Amino acid sequence: MKKIALVAWLALVQLLILSPLSASADTKTGESDVFLVKPYLQLGEGARQGDLAKQEKMEVVWFTSSNGKSEKWQVQSKSQTDSKWFSSKSVEVFSIGQVENVPFYRYTVKIEGLNPGEKFDYKVLRNGSLAFNGSAVARKSFNQPYSFAVFGDVGAGSAGEKKVIYEVTKRKPDLVVMPGDITYDQGRISQYLSRFFPIVNSQVSSPDNGGPLLSSSLVMPALGNHDIAMTTSWKGTDLNRFPDALGYFIFWSTPLNGLKLDYKIGQSTRNVLPLIGEQAVVTKFLNAAGKRYPNMGNYSFDYGNSHWLILDGNEYMHWGDSELRAFVENDLTKSKAKWKFVSFHQPPFSLDIYHHSEHRMRLLCDIFERTGVQVVWCGHAHNYQRYFPLKFKAKTNKDGVPMMNGNGTVTGDYILDTTFNGSTHPKMKGVLYIVSGGGGASLYRRAPFLPKESEACHKFIHGMHSFTFCSINDKTLNVSQISDDGKVLDSFKVETD
Ligand SMILES: [Fe+2]
Repeated sequence: MKKIALVAWLALVQLLILSPLSASADTKTGESDVFLVKPYLQLGEGARQGDLAKQEKMEVVWFTSSNGKSEKWQVQSKSQTDSKWFSSKSVEVFSIGQVENVPFYRYTVKIEGLNPGEKFDYKVLRNGSLAFNGSAVARKSFNQPYSFAVFGDVGAGSAGEKKVIYEVTKRKPDLVVMPGDITYDQGRISQYLSRFFPIVNSQVSSPDNGGPLLSSSLVMPALGNHDIAMTTSWKGTDLNRFPDALGYFIFWSTPLNGLKLDYKIGQSTRNVLPLIGEQAVVTKFLNAAGKRYPNMGNYSFDYGNSHWLILDGNEYMHWGDSELRAFVENDLTKSKAKWKFVSFHQPPFSLDIYHHSEHRMRLLCDIFERTGVQVVWCGHAHNYQRYFPLKFKAKTNKDGVPMMNGNGTVTGDYILDTTFNGSTHPKMKGVLYIVSGGGGASLYRRAPFLPKESEACHKFIHGMHSFTFCSINDKTLNVSQISDDGKVLDSFKVETD
């Protein structure tokens, strides 16, 4: 009897030690570790605007160190109403070169023919074996209710980031918008790999790990100052110093429908993110990024009955220039969406200790007011701030265009709608400015002595990481600010016409 038990025990030990699975699989998830970046979802370049047809698409993207020639990759998908799995037509493999001596290949597969608003499952197969599976909801159409989360200043690798991602993922938002500073400190590919993807696409959902947000929700990015390797006395992204900088243009895939900008090596172009470095390193980045750089800094997309304009608020953008102002005005005017939202990193209004006098984006307030934008969502200040719905009358130049002072401030007068209370008076006169920058980076307190902004600010909540969670049903927007341990910090409703 004893001998049999010993043999069984030895066999079990041998199985645990020698099993090839233990060498090739993530012990927590059982998934293959062939990925440099596990699969996640993207809207892709060609996403349509306006109401959606029964042909909604989503991209599945992943990265490996193999060029895919000696293996077969496939993506299969099945929506709720399908009885069988469909194989995607083709797998696009694109080399982005070596990153820290490791070859990097981006794989992109389009899942097509999705019904708007319908849940779908997908699986990524490698040589016929399951390497990854996930599920998500296809983009919602005009009449379908939907939920979304907004939070910036995320990828710091902090305990707060993990808790925020866990809480957001738990609520299964249809859409997530990240208004910049996606990955610290410089937005490098290597930092995405250590501080962003392992948390924001963690296959384990817990407050200590994060959750599978990127593989189960549509996440849309904006460029922040940390996404462009900004340093003191910055004159451009220094690719000699940070050869894997600008991960934003490698990992994200958004519509390229905004400002059409052109970059030529060695030529500094107004309103284009400047690059610094030897020709070889700059060329390597340009080849890797393709037409995403610099155009992915400014774009728009539709979700449900909302239109989202995403802008680059960094210092090389001159939003007082007439072409740029015309682009914003045209984009917002032509949209027939019920809700018009704008999102960028640097808030026009902030009471925080570090960025309170960085007013560059106030130059666009008059356009937001004219075109019927309801909410402007920002990050940059690592806290939560909600302003009264407001109209801002900036000091203008002789042509009547809002102007910025030499020190980066934009002076002007506020007209506040203090009758709006988010419950019994839910209609707004003016634009609602929200700062939601508590996604993971170290937190900011309030600056003293800002009487005008203090008057305009309705709520300033700091000292904990947090995110904004919203739902829209036709003309009603419900907004909650939620802490990293799930407590509701602020909650209100907005009605539109
Ligand atoms: Fe920032």
